[in-house]
Amino acid sequence: MRATRVPCWGKPTGRLLANPEAAPKPRYPAANHNINSSINIYKREKRVGPGDDSLTQGAKPLLAVLKGERRDPPPIWQMRQAGRYLPEYRKLREEKGSFLELVYDADTAAEVTLQPLRRFPQLDAAILFSDILIVPFAIGQNLSFVAGEGPRLTPPLVQSSLDDLAPFPARLDPIYETVRKVRAKLDASKTLIGFAGAPWTVATYMVAGSGSREQAETRRLAYLDPGQFTAIIERIGEVTFDYLSGQVEAGAEAIQLFDSWAGSLAPAEFERWVIAPTAQLVARLKARHPGVPLTGFPKGAGGKLGAYARESGVDAIGLDETVDPVWANQELPAGMPVQGNLDPLALVAGGEPLKSSVARILGALAGRPHIFNLGHGILQDTPIAHVEELIASVKGSA
Ligand code: CP3
Repeated sequence: MRATRVPCWGKPTGRLLANPEAAPKPRYPAANHNINSSINIYKREKRVGPGDDSLTQGAKPLLAVLKGERRDPPPIWQMRQAGRYLPEYRKLREEKGSFLELVYDADTAAEVTLQPLRRFPQLDAAILFSDILIVPFAIGQNLSFVAGEGPRLTPPLVQSSLDDLAPFPARLDPIYETVRKVRAKLDASKTLIGFAGAPWTVATYMVAGSGSREQAETRRLAYLDPGQFTAIIERIGEVTFDYLSGQVEAGAEAIQLFDSWAGSLAPAEFERWVIAPTAQLVARLKARHPGVPLTGFPKGAGGKLGAYARESGVDAIGLDETVDPVWANQELPAGMPVQGNLDPLALVAGGEPLKSSVARILGALAGRPHIFNLGHGILQDTPIAHVEELIASVKGSA
């Protein structure tokens, strides 16, 4: 197969991808600070294709921003917005007995997906209620959630090989049913977000068999046996492509890729295990579903955010709370939509710290398409009154 040099308008990387079809298009030039003209250029270059329905888009603020429009006030949603801080979630969770029972009962999962919008009608999006670890489950690992300890995947790949796993693709199907049910009930002004973990982050759970300190086993395996690790990353990429295509075909209108552990890699490894597999996945998704915007959330990427934004092919970037939005606005390609990045603990704190953090983020990102969100998932002890305050202040900002 002919190798293709990845085109890149920023700093060239010289990376080679074996699959020419998978080469990402150069979407963004390096940062320039002429914001207004760049927003216009971006809009003109926007691809319009099947699934890109501008009539619906006008009515969906979040979708419009993901496609490059600035909206005032910015749309808002919250990572992990369906979850344990909501009493109505805790009730259903208790009735079902386990998190996986909840995920695999499409009626209940659809109800949980919609709960945050019932309580906070000004939220602009629902995010599918599922988990990034459904992909390893479909690849053939066993999945369980141990109370107080978090997820367990067996056998961990640090002790076994992919060949020991019997694939179980039917484990993805009930999730699509949830997507269809949510889409049927969702208000026309709201966007339904589908999601998956990015290959690197999913690999850290598959290799260690659980969450792990500094993702050390996985980083070690990637150095010592890059052949085996490449096979793991590629398998995850393939199943994730099917999983996300299935979500889009069932009605997801935008996709977010969670790369929660992107921050643990040294720069060359970040290029190899975060940017390259994400670029492959994004290129395949863009070829199949050209109108569906993709947001990348490489948590902890810090100074590597600019490279990720220019090279991965994603349409929008999620910022975690450690990133200064003033810096990000200068560093990221002008006109590229940015999502974020309130510290979840400022939301727990409320009062003055919440007000000033919100004002700083709104001010820093006022010159580009912005989706207000947290820098990471909402915490369990977040008071509901603080969420109401947050939404009111963002929606009252224009
Ligand atoms: O955002 C949403 O509302 C949509 C649902 C969603 C969940 N997990 C539901 C969930 C999303 C987007 C995720 C992503 C996810 N899952 C990530 C990436 C984002 C991040 O937080 O970094 C990761 C790393 C996971 C893996 C995972 N799933 C962990 C570490 C845990 C916590 C384990 C525990 O015992 O608390 C989960 C479980 C999980 N996924 C819960 C929810 C609501 C809590 C389950 C419960 O209620 O017991």
